[in-house]
Amino acid sequence: MKVAVLGAGKMGMSFSQSFLKYELVKPGNLQLITRNRSKVEEVSAMFPGALVSAFDESEIEQADLVIIAVKPQDFANLASDTTLRFQENQMLLSIMAGIKIEQIQQLLHHQKVVRAMPNSPTLLGMGITGYTAAEGISFNELMSIERLLNSTGRSVYLEDENLLDGVTALSGSGPAYFYYIVDAMIKAGIKMGIDENLSKLFVKQTMLGAYHLINNSDKSLEALIKDVASKGGTTEAALRTFDDEHLKEILQKGILNAESRSKELSR
Ligand SMILES: NC(=O)c1ccc[n+]([C@@H]2O[C@H](COP(=O)([O-])OP(=O)(O)OC[C@H]3O[C@@H](n4cnc5c(N)ncnc54)[C@H](OP(=O)(O)O)[C@@H]3O)[C@@H](O)[C@H]2O)c1
Repeated sequence: MKVAVLGAGKMGMSFSQSFLKYELVKPGNLQLITRNRSKVEEVSAMFPGALVSAFDESEIEQADLVIIAVKPQDFANLASDTTLRFQENQMLLSIMAGIKIEQIQQLLHHQKVVRAMPNSPTLLGMGITGYTAAEGISFNELMSIERLLNSTGRSVYLEDENLLDGVTALSGSGPAYFYYIVDAMIKAGIKMGIDENLSKLFVKQTMLGAYHLINNSDKSLEALIKDVASKGGTTEAALRTFDDEHLKEILQKGILNAESRSKELSR
């Protein structure tokens, strides 16, 4: 498969690295397109054997799949470029947050669009991507895209495109919520007199261990919490404060706001 990546930024490059790592795309069949010529040398050095060029010097007619990995706010500008044309059989895979299939079809005058919402752990092949497709994309075409997405982690097909706003809010933005909580815990450690590096170590290893317990246990999250929080103990004291301050509701409210923002961006 020949793949062109429009927008060699964080996501475009991490996707490209995964495709090469799992030998789903040969370096010679990978094309990375930057906005500025100044970046071509740097990106070329990271992808030996791949074709790297600036947008105004690129031809993407040869690609079977074109991945659109520019920021949503750059999309209109990109789409307005009259030199950007697609062949009828080319597939487009958009990973832009909040831009609907219909909008992409209209602005790019092209029907074969798959829309995906990955997240940043794709950098390590540990991401999760929700995706959906326009009508008219064959099962085989979809499977060839899913194979590529799976090289960046896991992927889940969604029949209903509207659910991608929820996926954006949950897993697309999710890593940032996690960092936020980790940061609060590390700062609490520092307030209690624990050295910053040590506090980081305690918190990161706690998160890692707790994640594996969730993954390897048949118990519900409530039961796992009960296992840690004994009556009248320290964990219970913390949880009581979280409940009194409605922390769970606040987190949920934030995530629902992220979903609303995704819907708003789509409009
Ligand atoms: N980061 C995440 O966690 C995440 C998660 C889910 C989805 N996404 C989606 O992934 C997309 C990319 O995000 P990102 O974090 O990778 O952003 P990024 O690092 O800023 O990458 C976007 C790249 O697109 C380039 N670009 C802009 N216009 C272009 C054009 N006309 N031709 C060629 N290249 C162009 C930019 O060039 P310059 O370097 O010159 O600006 C930049 O390198 C976004 O649409 C975002 O919604 C990101």
